[in-house]
Amino acid sequence: MQKLAIRGGAPLHGEVRISGAKNAALPIMCASLLSADSLHLTNLPDLHDVGTMRKLLQQMGVAAATAPGEITFSGDRIERWEAPYDMVKTMRAAILVLGPLLARFGDARVSLPGGCAIGSRPVDLHIKGLQAMGAEITIEHGYIHARAKRLQGARIFFDLVSVTGTENLMMAAALADGVTVLENAAREPEVVDLANCLRAMGAHIVGDGSDTITITGVEKLHGASHRIMPDRIESGTFLVAAAATGGSITLTDTRADLLDTVLEKLAEAGAQITVAGDTIHLAMNRRPQAVNVRTAPHPAFPTDMQAQFMALNAIAEGSAMVVETIFENRFMHVQELRRLGASIEVEGNTAVVRGVERLEGATVMATDLRASASLVIAGLVAQGETIIDRIYHLDRGYEHLETKLSRLGADIRRLK
Ligand code: EPZ
Repeated sequence: MQKLAIRGGAPLHGEVRISGAKNAALPIMCASLLSADSLHLTNLPDLHDVGTMRKLLQQMGVAAATAPGEITFSGDRIERWEAPYDMVKTMRAAILVLGPLLARFGDARVSLPGGCAIGSRPVDLHIKGLQAMGAEITIEHGYIHARAKRLQGARIFFDLVSVTGTENLMMAAALADGVTVLENAAREPEVVDLANCLRAMGAHIVGDGSDTITITGVEKLHGASHRIMPDRIESGTFLVAAAATGGSITLTDTRADLLDTVLEKLAEAGAQITVAGDTIHLAMNRRPQAVNVRTAPHPAFPTDMQAQFMALNAIAEGSAMVVETIFENRFMHVQELRRLGASIEVEGNTAVVRGVERLEGATVMATDLRASASLVIAGLVAQGETIIDRIYHLDRGYEHLETKLSRLGADIRRLK
């Protein structure tokens, strides 16, 4: 099990290039199942989850020619319409092959994803939507088995906003017969990036980015090239790390319009932020002010930035409330932050963080992707050495994190 060793106290300085977005890359890679032509993706991040998704698609028969940051998929010889348990259990996003397989081949067997550290994360809304489009779905022996001669367009209302639920059904509807309207759809930028890729492949989609998306099915989709959008959560994570360490950094190859609420909260905490084209500059020359955070679907504050702001509030001036409304168990980082000296009380989905002057290095354990990022941020400000265990969680979602942080002046190294 690999670990990270961090010696805290160094303010971050310098420039860091933001990688392609994991949560755009994963659904867009599944779009390769929708066409027999080739789909050329660029600006792909070098992440464990991207590797897992590529292998899943390859074992179905999708050809994948790789180059650094690029993959060219060819979906002309797909013969296995199945996502097996051993692949799905490590990456829930594998559920995103269900819609495309059903739409293109009329048959799909996908293992039910288990729960994960942050919550039960069912996929009932994915299944309900596909059934509304005419799919026959049975669940047996832990597998979803879906069949449909040809999916029919339908009006689908999401009881809850679901990002991958919206993405799965948007891909299914692209090849369905007729018009599909997704109501109460997710408005996340990654949904828009997927829609842009599908349109490049010939899909007819309008309304993505709003809560109502209308897709008019077509007979076939053709090949395309698509550049993955920048990762807004990686961007936010580096900005919070710079704010917490009292540093001054510039992000390049990013997009500030993806981060409105995060930039607002950082300014409220006392950071100086300037945006120019595809760069964001942040300087923090004082102790941060505590800021209240309440997560909700985009364009509200992103749940994937909650843990990082918890770390910032841990050393801020004053107290703050952090309310998590999306996942039922996304406070796993709290007890680890307490080991570093943070003063946090949790009541249901609300945490009250009382800022302390200083955190003390300790050995802590990563539990999920964004909780790990929060521990790295805390380690960067703690006195002395912090050892973070189980950092495979980090490798799933952050490209070469310790290299990028070292380049910004952090004292951080990976222990084999
Ligand atoms: C996506 O997960 C992201 N993953 C998550 O990022 C992100 O935290 C989440 O959206 C919320 O923004 C990818 O895009 C690959 P949801 P997803 O369906 O789609 C409930 C990260 O750190 N729900 O929007 O799985 C669900 O339990 C990851 O990069 C149902 O009840 O999340 C949750 O409470 C973590 N039934 C809420 O809705 C369903 O059928 C939102 O889930 C689907 C979801």
